[in-house]
Amino acid sequence: MDRIAAEGPNAQQIEYWNEVSGARWVELNDVIDAQITSLGEAAMARAAIATGERVLDVGCGCGQTSLQLAERVGDSGAVVGIDISAVMLERAQARAKEAGHSNLEFRNVDAQIEPFTASFDRLFSRFGVMFFAEPEKAFANLLTALRPGGRLTCVTWRALGENPWMMVPLAAAAKHLPPSGPPPDPTAPGPFAFADSTRVEAILAAAGFEEIAHEAVDQEILVGGGRTLDQTVEFVMQLGPLGAVLREVDSELRAKVLTDVRTALEPYEHESGVKMSAAVWIVSARRPE
Ligand SMILES: C[S@@+](CC[C@H](N)C(=O)[O-])C[C@H]1O[C@@H](n2cnc3c(N)ncnc32)[C@H](O)[C@@H]1O
Repeated sequence: MDRIAAEGPNAQQIEYWNEVSGARWVELNDVIDAQITSLGEAAMARAAIATGERVLDVGCGCGQTSLQLAERVGDSGAVVGIDISAVMLERAQARAKEAGHSNLEFRNVDAQIEPFTASFDRLFSRFGVMFFAEPEKAFANLLTALRPGGRLTCVTWRALGENPWMMVPLAAAAKHLPPSGPPPDPTAPGPFAFADSTRVEAILAAAGFEEIAHEAVDQEILVGGGRTLDQTVEFVMQLGPLGAVLREVDSELRAKVLTDVRTALEPYEHESGVKMSAAVWIVSARRPE
């Protein structure tokens, strides 16, 4: 697979998903999939993707949804997973080979600028569309990958405050961490950039989509994929907003944070693992005929 260089409008994200976060996502791949699989499945059920359809999986990462989509569309359909992270796509490719899917391929491209032809019935994404530097341009470009009448379905996070599984550990860690300065721009590329549905509907409309809708979905998820409390604490301290902050701190401070995060997560411990609520949007839209 040709590897893209860290340049263009999303150069920073290309660097981030290859050099900083990609390897961690590969390492924790099974755990991450176990944690969010039900959210992707909710979006797939909403999309009602049919046998024989051609699907573009945007920001497919390590490929779990691409494999699931390949099962859904069957041999008469096809799935193309695209992502800026070559390291995550290597993992996706290995999984596809193992599963023996001949209707699935992966491409290391930037969804915002890759030239497409209108050959797909569906655009799908599980948490892969919130990182574009210029979302309007990115969705205008993605629209060109859809045949007229083709549909977009993606799942995105609602606000941090509505997602205790991320908020609770962050709040527990906060008292140990240095003041973080002014709050970050909530629309900057990142997991919560699409929390404001009014903004996203304007982006999609400006990009040329119609029949744009947001459905709020709340689910109990198994944080850390259903492992022990201690393993879950380690997991939340490696990824997401808390992982980013903790990359900069020494081991003494890290140990204090660990103790408090463990205490904060303990009430959510169940026989099946650490269960907490997650709040997402399922966004749907259509390319006009
Ligand atoms: C939060 S991860 C989600 C990965 C995967 N969809 C999943 O659910 O496991 C976001 C993914 O979007 C990809 N991504 C970010 N910006 C992108 C862009 N401009 N074009 C293609 N992929 C992008 C990242 O490399 C990363 O794999």
